[in-house]
Order: sequence, then C-alpha cells, then structure tokens
Amino acid sequence: MALLFFEEYAANSYLYAVLVIGLASLLPMGLLELKGGGLRYSKFAEGKSPLGEIPSRIAMFLFYFPSAALAGAVLSATMGILPSPVPEFLKNAHPSPRFLVLTAAICIHFSKRVIEVLFVHKYSGNAELLSSLSIVFFYTASTANLLYAQRVAEDLAPPKIDLMFLGCVFFVVGIVGNFYHHDLLAQLRSGRSPQQPRYVVPHGGLFDLVACPHYLFEIIDFIGLGMISQTAISAATVMLVAFYLTSRSISTRRWYLKKVDGFPRERKALIPFVL
Ligand SMILES: NC(=O)c1ccc[n+]([C@@H]2O[C@H](COP(=O)([O-])OP(=O)(O)OC[C@H]3O[C@@H](n4cnc5c(N)ncnc54)[C@H](OP(=O)(O)O)[C@@H]3O)[C@@H](O)[C@H]2O)c1
Repeated sequence: MALLFFEEYAANSYLYAVLVIGLASLLPMGLLELKGGGLRYSKFAEGKSPLGEIPSRIAMFLFYFPSAALAGAVLSATMGILPSPVPEFLKNAHPSPRFLVLTAAICIHFSKRVIEVLFVHKYSGNAELLSSLSIVFFYTASTANLLYAQRVAEDLAPPKIDLMFLGCVFFVVGIVGNFYHHDLLAQLRSGRSPQQPRYVVPHGGLFDLVACPHYLFEIIDFIGLGMISQTAISAATVMLVAFYLTSRSISTRRWYLKKVDGFPRERKALIPFVL
C-alpha cells in the first residue's frame, strides 16, 4: 500500500496518460513562462495576437466559471441537494468524506475566483484569445481529471498516511492569503485617475517582501487541495501550478524592475528572502 498517494494511475490507462503528459509538460511550460513567451494576459498581453484579444474580466470569468460549475454540479448531485446534470464517469453513489471535501474545496476555490473577477479585481487591459482558450481548457480539464482520479481512487486502498485534515488547513490559509493580497492589488487602483500609471509598486502584506505573494498563497491553496486528494494526479497538478507560478513570479519581478519606477531591487519574486 502506498505511503502518501493512492495508486489510481496504475488502475486506469487514461489517468496514467494524463499523469505522463502532465509531468512531461512541467519543464517546457515553466521555461516558456520564464523566458517571457508564456501565457499572454494582463501585464504580459502586449505584442501580436493572432486570434485577437478580449477584455480581461470576460477572459478571467471564462477561465474559472466552467470549473466552479462542474465541481458544484458534482457536489450537489452527489449529496442529492439539487438534481444536477453530471457526466456518468463522475457519478458517485457512495462518496467517501475525502471525495466530498475535495469536491467542495474545488468548488470553493473556483467560485471564489469567479467572485473576485466580478467584484474585486480592477482590470486595466485585455487577454490574448489563444492564451485564454488554453487556460480555459487547462482549468476545465484539470478539474474533471482531479474529480475523476478521486472517483477511481474510491475503490482502492487508501494511503497509509492521511493528510486530509492538514490539507484543509493549507487550503484555508492559501485561500485567505490569496484573497487578502488580491484586495491589496485592487486598492492600488481605487480612485486612480486616467493620468496615473496603470501599474505602481504594491505595498502591504507580503508585497513588501515579494513581487507576487498572491501566487505564493495560490500555491499553498493547491498544496492543500493535493493533500486533501492524495491522488498522483493531484500531486502532478500541484507541481504544474507551482512550476508555472514560480516562473511567472520571476518574470513579473523582472518586468517590474524594467517598467515600474521605484520597484525595490531587494524585493524577491515569490518566497520572502529566498527566491
Ligand atoms: N492556479 C494557477 O495556475 C493560476 C495561474 C495564474 C493565476 N492564478 C490565480 O489568479 C490570480 C491572479 O493572477 P494574475 O496572473 O491575473 O495576477 P496579476 O497579473 O498580479 O493581476 C491581478 C490583478 O491585479 C492588478 N495588478 C497587478 N499588478 C498591479 C500593479 N502593480 N498595480 C496595479 N494593479 C495591479 C491586475 O490588473 P491588470 O489585469 O490590469 O494587469 C489584476 O486586476 C492569482 O493570484 C491566482 O489566484 C492561478
């Protein structure tokens, strides 16, 4: 019996393929983002857009809404709250507490993002359409894969060490810290006149130590999801998110140093005093 993870990938060739593709795309995705050739939205939306651009708020809503709706539908159908249309492969008549907690946590994660997109963030620009479509695909497929892997794991021996409770603690710390820093970013633009620069040096919270504390807390939130789930697919998803956001935080710090007057050189990218 595995120590930390279910062995759901060994029981299912689709999940095995997802795991291999996920791990194989870690390095290219991270390196592309690091070189500044990654996903083009917000600060990084400048340049040629082969398919055009859409306003950031619409793009971001489309990123998160399908995942929130999918997890919400699975949760409500599984608990018998509302009759929701749920794909056959995700139906679970006898869910374990872990399945319910994971589905609820995913639903909370993406619903929070939808609410932030609609009511908290103050966007100033656009997202490139091709990048936006890739992100919608990534989130929706990841959500379906995480839930399907958990569904398959329901019939397998559980890992020897149960990390679910600790995962809930990480998840809550991550989601609260992420929201707090999103609110600080939004405050930078409240009462901003059109003459003022689009981007200024953020302050408050961990912004005084790193360029992207909101990414750091997003990674903590995903580590929490991974610990609640304990599937190999969830571990690969955490690695992908961590790799991507670490690379993007390094690019963001580089961007600030080049484009924003007064950005402190000693401020790190993601982890205070370290990176
Ligand atoms: N799980 C994942 O793989 C993943 C990946 C990426 C993002 N996310 C989630 O999405 C969240 C937002 O990510 P993001 O990449 O969109 O963050 P971001 O580029 O830092 O932007 C967040 C918001 O703050 C504004 N903003 C950023 N820097 C600013 C500055 N210096 N001055 C004034 N306003 C500023 C942005 O405006 P503009 O739009 O006008 O730039 C936007 O409204 C993350 O914290 C995370 O929760 C998750």
